[in-house]
Amino acid sequence: MRITPSPVHLFRGWGYPGFPGVSVKRAQRSSVFHSPEEMNVIPTRPLRVDIVTLFPEMLESVVSHSILKRAQEKGLLDVRAVDLRAFTTDRHKMADDSPFGGGAGMVMKPEPLVAAIEYLRPQVSAPRVILTSPRGAVYNQRRAEEFARESHLILLCGRYEGVDERVRAFITDDLSIGDYVLSGGELAALNVLDSVARLIPGVLGKEESAAEDSFTTGLLEHPHYTRPADFRGMTVPEVLLSGHHANVERWRREQSLRLTREHRPDLFASAPLTEADRRLLAQWDEENFGF
Ligand SMILES: C[S@@+](CC[C@H](N)C(=O)[O-])C[C@H]1O[C@@H](n2cnc3c(N)ncnc32)[C@H](O)[C@@H]1O
Repeated sequence: MRITPSPVHLFRGWGYPGFPGVSVKRAQRSSVFHSPEEMNVIPTRPLRVDIVTLFPEMLESVVSHSILKRAQEKGLLDVRAVDLRAFTTDRHKMADDSPFGGGAGMVMKPEPLVAAIEYLRPQVSAPRVILTSPRGAVYNQRRAEEFARESHLILLCGRYEGVDERVRAFITDDLSIGDYVLSGGELAALNVLDSVARLIPGVLGKEESAAEDSFTTGLLEHPHYTRPADFRGMTVPEVLLSGHHANVERWRREQSLRLTREHRPDLFASAPLTEADRRLLAQWDEENFGF
């Protein structure tokens, strides 16, 4: 199935032009950069994201809604769900096999995964080839920012007991989304896709800016309120109704500092605090705890 011109390109069933054995023309892209800093922030986009999976349809709904959909429509993101079975060469399209040494569960064979990597790798330029794996470095906002500066990500989704160890020789990163085990890498890949897409300049509207998001600033974000001003006796902090912009900003910063200190002392310990931040917190402590 290939749904084009839908934003999602599902390659399944159509075969892959150029696979196997035929080389694929490298996409030509050129950009003029005026400084090294610009090279880091101005994307030569669209960012191409290939998600290699045994279950391409699993991705379709997520990538065809909301911000991911808009990012593709704006031409800033090009997401492809790549059917791993298209890279198998046997009659039964086997992508897994039993483990050497015995034991329960199946292991994903190296040949189809590496064939997919080698097919996709030259299509843009110098991709990050990312294996989803509980063993990987735990994903965070810094990593999302790093990936958002790339032009091509290839995300590999494991299933069963995981992938043959030798696949690791063909990757650039292995990445975990947390200390728990998922049944497959698709949800991990979607986590990466979603968090990276919102960081691509132009993807979020002005009102949805990621600049104040939790973690971006090194702190958790302040609380939000909307109408009604009184919900079941719970009222909105007075300052937010005051229309006094500077006081609202001050309150938000104070809440952000307080929440981070309370809920994420690990983040708070390395947060870049200013003198004004320290004064705000000291004042809050005095008003609320009397010290
Ligand atoms: C059932 S898991 C394999 C777990 C493996 N046997 C282990 O104990 O580490 C199957 C696949 O799900 C994905 N996966 C599971 N947990 C993950 C996590 N925390 N982060 C990223 N990917 C994960 C990986 O792609 C993995 O190959």
